[in-house]
Amino acid sequence: MNIQNLKQLLEDLNTHEILKVMLDRYGDKIALASSLGAEDQVLTDMILKIDKNANIFTLDTGRLPKETYALIEAVNQKYNIKLKVFFPDTKAVENLVNQKGMFSFYESIKNRKECCYIRKIEPLKRALNGLEVWITGLRSAQSITRSDCEIVEFDEVNNLIKLNPLVNWSEDDVWEYIKRHNVPYNKLHDKSYPSIGCEPCTRAVENSLDIRAGRWWWEDPEHKECGLHIK
Ligand code: ADX
Ligand code: SF4
Repeated sequence: MNIQNLKQLLEDLNTHEILKVMLDRYGDKIALASSLGAEDQVLTDMILKIDKNANIFTLDTGRLPKETYALIEAVNQKYNIKLKVFFPDTKAVENLVNQKGMFSFYESIKNRKECCYIRKIEPLKRALNGLEVWITGLRSAQSITRSDCEIVEFDEVNNLIKLNPLVNWSEDDVWEYIKRHNVPYNKLHDKSYPSIGCEPCTRAVENSLDIRAGRWWWEDPEHKECGLHIK
């Protein structure tokens, strides 16, 4: 089914119905990419209540905060699943670190994107291999780089359908769901981390309207994408 037809099919459905239709339709060819962030926790809860064998994967960059690892374990335990974890290519990480050191990403945007490529983008390509749809927790209100996101899009870069079921949700909607359904979440969210990525590239933010202000805080907002969501 092409994107226009899919859009029409999903047009008047709520988030739960969208997930149900897409999971039924695509079976083992659809997967959630979870960073273990608040949005992905909402989706994990909704998806596993529809299909307890649904495919959920995470990209472990090797630089995640310990709280994220703790949450992986908590999710596995609560839902009785095993999140599928993808790691970066060993040789690529060894070359990067041996040539440029442990913190090359602070030196330039080019170096930062190189690290993101090795630790996230290349593993993502492997994770998406053979899939027809990937589900993300993107919300259009998260940043200027995401304002034109749609519920369903064709991901030209990775050549498959991208489903963003929470695209129109507010941050309050996300937290309301988490509290109401007692969904496990990253403890860093309680310590002023609204958005969480790798440990060296994420910091706490106080009183900022920009929920991604603590991600790659040394860069301009226009550059703050690691490459997972480039169109
Ligand atoms: S990022 O590109 O800046 O890291 P963000 O943390 O906002 O993205 O997450 C947006 C969406 O990208 C998540 O909802 C998730 O679908 C996907 N994503 C981001 N990081 C990962 C990860 N480490 N593993 C799997 N999916 C991820
Ligand atoms: Fe590397 Fe930072 Fe990107 Fe993580 S977020 S992959 S540590 S540059």
